[in-house]
Amino acid sequence: MTWLAYFDEIKNRLGKRKGGFSKIFSYLDEIKYPVILETGTYREENNYEGDGCSTLLYDNYIKYNGGKLISVDIDPKACELAKENTVFAKVYCEDSIEFLGQVEGEIDFLYLDSFNIQNWNNDWEASSHHLKELFAAKNCIKEGTLIVVDDNLNQAGRKLKIGKGRLISELMASLGIKPYIDDYQMGWIWEELE
Ligand SMILES: C[S@@+](CC[C@H](N)C(=O)[O-])C[C@H]1O[C@@H](n2cnc3c(N)ncnc32)[C@H](O)[C@@H]1O
Repeated sequence: MTWLAYFDEIKNRLGKRKGGFSKIFSYLDEIKYPVILETGTYREENNYEGDGCSTLLYDNYIKYNGGKLISVDIDPKACELAKENTVFAKVYCEDSIEFLGQVEGEIDFLYLDSFNIQNWNNDWEASSHHLKELFAAKNCIKEGTLIVVDDNLNQAGRKLKIGKGRLISELMASLGIKPYIDDYQMGWIWEELE
């Protein structure tokens, strides 16, 4: 099996994230041995449609292409499940914001998915949690780091999406950083400010 064969098979199970994950892996393909850090780990078996199973996808990417995967989650059960189902992931059971503030070294890809958004009519708590994560990760983000936030929806009459990435999206727009992914997942390639 190759990475392309694996992804070709699995991508039909990714539903609303198929386009976003395809762009993520195209970006990773340009980097030798990428360092991936995700917040919010594998918590429910085979829930590709609902959660996305990002941890399994990134673990398989590393299996075929090399690199490193760090995954953090506050829930010990999710951490256990992720450890049991991955080979290359280093899984940490901690609050994501505290964890990100202590990470050393640069990362190529930051995937933010550590908040369970329940009420789409009030995304303040969810989107501010991810804005805090971004700020906590500032020491490991460099020019070219891909930053992706999961779970965003278009809303009638509004230009910007609502969801977990709303405040990061507003920040990026005000910094003039255009989206690399503008879908259910939203992503930007970080540009150092002049
Ligand atoms: C949507 S799930 C992650 C799904 C996973 N990325 C996937 O694609 O399968 C969100 C996870 O975030 C975790 N979480 C919630 N608050 C957190 C926090 N403050 N720090 C770290 N993880 C947190 C939850 O325990 C849950 O497992």
